[in-house]
Amino acid sequence: MPKDDFICIGHRGASGHAPENTLKAFELAIKLGCQWIELDVYVVEGELLVIHDEKLNRTTNGSGLVEAQTVEYLRSLDAGDGEKIPLLSEVIKRVAHRCKINIELKGTHTAEPVNALLKDFISKGWREDEFMISSFNHEELAASSPDIKRGALFHKQIANMFERAADLNAYAVNLSQKIAHTEIVAQAHERGYQVFVYTVNTRDEMLVLKKMGVDGVFTNFPDLFPSDKP
Ligand code: G3P
Ligand code: MG
Repeated sequence: MPKDDFICIGHRGASGHAPENTLKAFELAIKLGCQWIELDVYVVEGELLVIHDEKLNRTTNGSGLVEAQTVEYLRSLDAGDGEKIPLLSEVIKRVAHRCKINIELKGTHTAEPVNALLKDFISKGWREDEFMISSFNHEELAASSPDIKRGALFHKQIANMFERAADLNAYAVNLSQKIAHTEIVAQAHERGYQVFVYTVNTRDEMLVLKKMGVDGVFTNFPDLFPSDKP
């Protein structure tokens, strides 16, 4: 399938330069020209919170499992540089159409609350195509809204990768860099899938993947993204 663009996706925001999955990192990703940001979500007491790990200790001054806490406690924590763990709704409002948002379902039972939240935003003027929902948990992904693009995440090559993507009615296969090779990219394109590759943190690697025909890369360093602009 011919592709018309090579897309920069700020991985957890511009997380090489600002605390990951914070408003600061998302603002910086937009400033650095990302067409998309990627973030990870968990649900706690019915609220969607943006954080990557199941435990708090690496990225915040808290401890314990994210899903075992109250929202009040989670919101009291410092996620770096004085930033709070954002609510997904807060990120969507702050982004305010300046880029698209890839929501990765990281926590359990996140598909339904994400569907409900996006439905609410779409009723208020956001467009379906401003979002993509992805997950390594393909069962959870299968429960995401069929109106929103789905990205099937794969960290290793499996024999039935494209059957899985077809079953999910995926828009994209989002591949670990270690399995992103010419053949798999061509096979994905033959079947009509976009190919996005994570996490690509050098310009040389970005250029290799661009030449290979991938449609975009997740990066912590959007400033390294090769722009066609002079
Ligand atoms: O969605 C791409 C990438 O974020 C998947 O891996 O562990 O960084 O969420 P991880
Ligand atoms: Mg992620």
